[in-house]
Amino acid sequence: MHERGGENTGLLTLDGATAGPLSIRARSLAFVDPASQAVLQLIERVAPSTAPVMIGGDSGTGKELIARHIHTLSGRTGPFLAINCGAITEHLAESELFGHEAGAFTGAQGRREGWFEAAHHGTLFLDEIGDLPLSLQVKLLRVLQEREVVRLGSRKAIPVDVRLVTATNVDLSEAVSAGHFRLDLFYRLNIVQVRLPPLRERIGDIGPLARHFLSLYSRRLNLPEPRLGDAALRALEAYDWPGNIRELENVIHFALLVASEQEIRPEHLKLAGQPVRHRAPAEPPTPSVAVTAPPPTEATQEPAPDLLRRAVRALLDAPPPALFTDVERLLVEESYRHSGRNQVRAGALLGVSRNVMRTLLKRHGLIGDGTGGDGPESPDAGDSDGGLDGASDSRSDADGATARERDHDLHGQDQAEEA
Ligand SMILES: Nc1ncnc2c1ncn2[C@@H]1O[C@H](COP(=O)(O)OP(=O)(O)OP(=O)(O)O)[C@@H](O)[C@H]1O
Ligand SMILES: [Mg+2]
Repeated sequence: MHERGGENTGLLTLDGATAGPLSIRARSLAFVDPASQAVLQLIERVAPSTAPVMIGGDSGTGKELIARHIHTLSGRTGPFLAINCGAITEHLAESELFGHEAGAFTGAQGRREGWFEAAHHGTLFLDEIGDLPLSLQVKLLRVLQEREVVRLGSRKAIPVDVRLVTATNVDLSEAVSAGHFRLDLFYRLNIVQVRLPPLRERIGDIGPLARHFLSLYSRRLNLPEPRLGDAALRALEAYDWPGNIRELENVIHFALLVASEQEIRPEHLKLAGQPVRHRAPAEPPTPSVAVTAPPPTEATQEPAPDLLRRAVRALLDAPPPALFTDVERLLVEESYRHSGRNQVRAGALLGVSRNVMRTLLKRHGLIGDGTGGDGPESPDAGDSDGGLDGASDSRSDADGATARERDHDLHGQDQAEEA
């Protein structure tokens, strides 16, 4: 795996990663955001072992792609085979997984090896593992313990060397509590747990992914590759992405079809079935705080402050022109998004009053200069901490400082520089 052609695209190119009958055909992975970098470091660390890996993450976050990548990095010589446990019927599942001998059941003509045997020396990816019927869970556990399969209708055990990777987009521990999933199997399968964050939690990946899909689809459709305009990028970064990377892929595919110009603009983006609704902030331009590949560390689950420090150091190595503003904007934007566009809660997240929050939101063009902001703010967008108007500026924060004082502090640096 290597950076593509030495360009600073944020994309890592996978060599030969697309083989396999059910493959999803991505040749590049975007792992630019610190959150994705942490995932990448974890899988690079665990891939060479034979420990089972359980990948969790919402729909479209790239679970299968990651499973495939684990296989690629593992150096295993056998194939990567992917099976969706939700798509095989219960009565066929056993012979699908473990194989059968001729006449083992009605319609079983001839003998057939199951997926486990087929994946010998390779990786078996069991997608939607939570859908595996209880009757098969116990058999799967046995195969994992004994490292051998017994075909249906046979007594002979066949040794198998298979690395198991599973995926789920539901909380499997809840399925365990509800009695739908065996606790012993759960422990066996999630020796290594990889959680893929939703796209809205790794905004640094959005630009590189969008450009990756632009290039992929323009090549596929034999169209000239347009550039991604700044306003379009800001709109993409401001969207919540319920369908995650798959949704982004579809949005870019569509944009490419409707954009006749050289540039993708916000009106080309079909977000949640509608043209973009989020107000793309005016100036200053989108912060370029997408951190490129901080160096790997020893820790797999690095504490957030350390991760942040590394990200800041990486930024300082090649600082964008307005680093301070960019980082401030990132904090403001993220807390506002995290709070469901609620100024009081966003302020609380950052440890500032609602009034300071409002000032910051205005400064970065995330709300208008009017009264309550112009974005799709949540219904209780701020009234819960008192009034909306300027009079509330004189209220005290919990720590005794007035909002005006806190705001003054925020501007202190600018003023000192002006003086
Ligand atoms: N980091 C990435 N870089 C490039 N493409 C990616 C990345 N992650 C995912 N994709 C692409 O996004 C799409 C969805 O990925 P994938 O099918 O692996 O998601 P998933 O989590 O398995 O989805 P589902 O839960 O719906 O099964 C695929 O086309 C995949 O190639
Ligand atoms: Mg999948």
